[in-house]
Amino acid sequence: MPSTDTPYDRQFTHAPDGRLDAPAYHRNFEPMLAVLRDRLAERNGHVLEVGSGTGQHVVGFARALPSTTWWPSDPAPEHRRSADAWHAESGAANVMPAIDLDAAAPDVGRGGAAGWPLESFAAVLAMNVIHIAPWRVCEGIMRLAGAHLAPAGLLFLYGPFRRGGTHNAPSNEAFDAMLRRENIEWGVRDLEEVEAVAEREGLRLAEIAEMPANNLTVIFECKPDDG
Ligand SMILES: C[S@@+](CC[C@H](N)C(=O)[O-])C[C@H]1O[C@@H](n2cnc3c(N)ncnc32)[C@H](O)[C@@H]1O
Repeated sequence: MPSTDTPYDRQFTHAPDGRLDAPAYHRNFEPMLAVLRDRLAERNGHVLEVGSGTGQHVVGFARALPSTTWWPSDPAPEHRRSADAWHAESGAANVMPAIDLDAAAPDVGRGGAAGWPLESFAAVLAMNVIHIAPWRVCEGIMRLAGAHLAPAGLLFLYGPFRRGGTHNAPSNEAFDAMLRRENIEWGVRDLEEVEAVAEREGLRLAEIAEMPANNLTVIFECKPDDG
């Protein structure tokens, strides 16, 4: 299981019922909701979040987008407990219990994930995951999205990215160095490399949305089935 001794986890405040509060959530929830609202408000269906962390985002997105049903997931038990506690506190009917999903597991996207809930999702979302996890997590997310997105389904990746081998801000370069010091397998990813993996899994880069603090939301969609 991935470590929970991470810069993200060290910033939590803890409530007695297991709810964790992450400072980053308060900075990026509204900008991310604006992106999702524009693209999902007209859609019904199920949305899977990979690496939900505290689970705060899912509850807020579910409340704002009532025609969608949200599935938080995380391999860390205390994160799943937090997601379920935020869900209970919110009373939101369109949130499911948190799934134990390790995106790096070899069977992810290959039909073998134990307890896998649904065949297809309208969207998959991963916020601040692929740079704070080994590269195989990005590969697993792409495999999962390629296998389980409905036709015209969307994959949203939020976070910092390099483009053309270059950081878009000194703050992201410093963040990247900090990540790599923390764990040699982590680091801000090259958008071109992420896109190459997506292409391999039947996804195409549809859109890049500029976000606050030099982050991006990169949106992929399922390529039409040409078979
Ligand atoms: C920096 S946190 C981001 C949490 C949340 N998405 C957010 O933006 O606030 C990264 C999350 O990815 C999860 N994670 C790490 N390795 C993972 C893996 N192999 N598969 C799925 N999630 C993973 C961690 O447990 C953690 O909850």
